[in-house]
Amino acid sequence: MESQNKAEEKSFFGAQAKADKYDVFSAASNQRIIQSFADLSGLEAGALVADLGCGSGAFTTLLQDRGYQSVGLDLSEDLLHRGTEHYPGVAFVTGDVEALPFPDGALDGILLSGIIHHLPDPMACANEVFRVLKPGGSFVAFDPNRLNPFMYLYRDRSSPFYSNVGVTANERPVIPSHVAKVFRSAGLSATSDFIADLHYQYVASGKVRWALPIYNFLSSTLFRPRFMARFGAFVLTSGRKP
Ligand SMILES: C[S@@+](CC[C@H](N)C(=O)[O-])C[C@H]1O[C@@H](n2cnc3c(N)ncnc32)[C@H](O)[C@@H]1O
Repeated sequence: MESQNKAEEKSFFGAQAKADKYDVFSAASNQRIIQSFADLSGLEAGALVADLGCGSGAFTTLLQDRGYQSVGLDLSEDLLHRGTEHYPGVAFVTGDVEALPFPDGALDGILLSGIIHHLPDPMACANEVFRVLKPGGSFVAFDPNRLNPFMYLYRDRSSPFYSNVGVTANERPVIPSHVAKVFRSAGLSATSDFIADLHYQYVASGKVRWALPIYNFLSSTLFRPRFMARFGAFVLTSGRKP
């Protein structure tokens, strides 16, 4: 299995940090993710939660606002620098999700913040999530869903309409059952839920930016019926350490 090209990842996100344009979702969609984290993890305010792949810290600060003791972790020092500028009261640490700088059993919860789809093989990360969670601790991951036609057509390398603008060479949308299986083989429980109505406010390609309102509308209406839910644009993989 391919391993992640970390130099490529750092250089791509270093450039994003310079442009200071990495808040891709609308504020309401960010809140929707935090609400999903709270619902699926069942964690109360005060719990110690790491936001892995935190980027410039949008979700780390929302977790803190929600009452969690949050710490953001990312490979990109440039994005973390942006985070400390924007959110001076929030804790950040540089690190790799495949070798976490936390002791065994240290955390109550983990938000995998759009990071799994950047790992060609998420097994090492899943093993680290297992290691650093307390028994009974929870994780929630959100990632683009390869079963969604828009995500597949625009963001999967096997699609004839694939665009590599604004994405790293490491990333591709995930197959929900594959991600759940990896977390289960690390010893965690894992289930998949779907979100259809995360609205983008920014996409790197100027050529398709005009279509964002159309995409946002179609995405939230087409996949709302229950029988269409598993084709929603984002999958939430969540579970617990026994
Ligand atoms: C899609 S972005 C998500 C950023 C942020 N959570 C958000 O949603 O706005 C993925 C993030 O994962 C980080 N990342 C990629 N590989 C990583 C790794 N191996 N360890 C830690 N962070 C990593 C990138 O630097 C980037 O900030």
